[in-house]
Amino acid sequence: MILWYRAMLSRIHTSALNRHTSEKAVKHLIQCWTKKFDENQVPEAESSIKHIICSILGLRNVSRLDTMRNQILTDDEYHRLLVNTELRLKRMPVQYVIGEWDFCGLTMKMSHSPSVFIPRPETEDLVTIASELVQHLTPEEGSLRDPSCFEIGCGSGAISLALLSKHDKLRCTAIDANPAAVSLSRLNSELLGLADRASFSIAKLEDDGVIHVFSPADSQKFDILVSNPPYIPTAEISGLQPEVFRYEDHLALDGGPDGTRLIETIIRNSPKWLRGGAFIVLEIDPRQTKMIQLISQDCGSYAGFSVRKDCFGVDRFVVLRCK
Ligand SMILES: C[S@@+](CC[C@H](N)C(=O)[O-])C[C@H]1O[C@@H](n2cnc3c(N)ncnc32)[C@H](O)[C@@H]1O
Repeated sequence: MILWYRAMLSRIHTSALNRHTSEKAVKHLIQCWTKKFDENQVPEAESSIKHIICSILGLRNVSRLDTMRNQILTDDEYHRLLVNTELRLKRMPVQYVIGEWDFCGLTMKMSHSPSVFIPRPETEDLVTIASELVQHLTPEEGSLRDPSCFEIGCGSGAISLALLSKHDKLRCTAIDANPAAVSLSRLNSELLGLADRASFSIAKLEDDGVIHVFSPADSQKFDILVSNPPYIPTAEISGLQPEVFRYEDHLALDGGPDGTRLIETIIRNSPKWLRGGAFIVLEIDPRQTKMIQLISQDCGSYAGFSVRKDCFGVDRFVVLRCK
């Protein structure tokens, strides 16, 4: 009788454990949390939970989850999943939740406190455009130096680091007004083994075109300038989705009344940092193309102006060439 009772207890315990365990299976967690995120209007519900699980399991690629659907999370992993999903339910961007994101095939650390801008997929097209220009840079006559790039507003360092990873002779100098962005760019440059060709400084480009606390060598004239400046009109900031409005740094977003404040400052002042024939590649809002063309014509310093599309078919970049 006692033996029978023990066997019964053991069977009940095992089935409770199994049920509990199956709830921690990857496939169950994906289904359950996709539904919960959807019910709570969290965008990109399935992709969010997949990225969270991948990060907890230390997987590099979301597609790896397909072969691990029956994997059971340990108690510790499950606890981390609950913490992370709670943050996502509060609309924290998944990039901040998991603390890293891939850009142009490079894994970049992300920082939400203090907040540093998350690189967007369309900005990978800016890298492609700038990279083609770097490829065809003709050295200044008599110049023996390596090609050089200047970035204004480096954020996590995504653009400069992606360019450095594609061009082993290139050197990048980048500034950002947000000290956390500069620290993160430096960290990413070290983790990616690119720090020896990158220089990141805390510096703000002011409306009058002066860059405080930034002094490139007097003779330094860059071959290309890249920037994804803040370009959202101020009045539109409050209407951005919660992920962006609540969590991203507004200094990275707010481009002034019509969104072109920093863009105009860059275009009007760049010739003093660039050599003749150098290029400027800027990410913009498609509504700003005409205004930017007028500004560049008004400057009289540019020989070429073109508008380029991003991977979504949107007019997203302007390319200028110094006279
Ligand atoms: C849209 S984010 C781009 C970040 C990064 N380049 C990327 O594409 O992921 C703009 C960046 O410009 C910086 N920024 C804004 N105003 C600035 C200014 N006046 N001078 C220097 N940096 C500025 C912000 O701190 C932010 O990191």
